[in-house]
Amino acid sequence: MQIRRATIEDATALSKLASKTFFDTFTGTCTDADMDSFLQEYYNINQVIKELSDSKDYYYLYDVDAKAVGYIRVKEDYSGFDELKNFKSLELKRLYVLKEFHGLGVAQQLMDFAFDFANKNKYTVMWLGVWEYNERAKRFYAKNGFIDTCYSHPFPIGNTPQTDLWYWKKL
Ligand SMILES: CC(C)(COP(=O)(O)OP(=O)(O)OC[C@H]1O[C@@H](n2cnc3c(N)ncnc32)[C@H](O)[C@@H]1OP(=O)(O)O)[C@@H](O)C(=O)NCCC(=O)NCCS
Repeated sequence: MQIRRATIEDATALSKLASKTFFDTFTGTCTDADMDSFLQEYYNINQVIKELSDSKDYYYLYDVDAKAVGYIRVKEDYSGFDELKNFKSLELKRLYVLKEFHGLGVAQQLMDFAFDFANKNKYTVMWLGVWEYNERAKRFYAKNGFIDTCYSHPFPIGNTPQTDLWYWKKL
C-alpha cells in the first residue's frame, strides 16, 4: 500500500472513486435525481481535473495493489466559521474509503497522513464538515480528537436539504 499525491493522470480514477464513495455513503438520503445531479456537478472529470490542477488543493490517494481504495482532500480554507481566521486553518475537505475497506485502518492511515501534512505545514487547526446523521464518521472524527464546534451549515444534495456539522481540532 502507499499514500501518494494524486496527479492529473489520476483524474479518471479519482472521479470514479469519488463518485462511488459519495454514492455509497449518501444513497437513500436524497432522491435519485438529486444524487445524479450532485455527482454530475461536483465529481465530473472536468471538475476533478480543475481541482487537481490547483497546486494548493491536495488530493492524496491510498493505493492497494496499485488501485486507489480511499482518498483525502485537504486545503487551506477559512470559509467555515469566523474563529478559523484566528488560526492557520486546514480543511479536511474529504475523507472517503471504499466500504470493503472500512474498519481496516485505511481511513486511520489517511487521517494520520493528514495530521502529518498539517504539522509539517505548521497548521494550528484542522476542521471539517460532517453530515449530522453520519454516525460512523462522527465517531471516527471524535476518536481522532475532533470536537463539534456547535456551528452547522446547509449542505443540500440537489433539492434535498441536509445539514453538516463543523468539527475542528486544535493541533
Ligand atoms: C468515515 C470513515 C472514513 C471512517 O473510517 P473507518 O475505517 O470506517 O473507521 P473506523 O472503523 O476506524 O471507526 C469507525 C468508528 O465508528 C463506529 N461505528 C460504526 N458504525 C457506527 C454507527 N452506526 N454509529 C456509531 N458508531 C459507529 C465504529 O465502531 C468505530 O468506532 P470504534 O473504533 O470506537 O469501535 C469510513 O467509514 C468512510 O469512508 N465512510 C464513508 C465516507 C464518509 O462517510 N466519509 C466522511 C465524510 S465527512
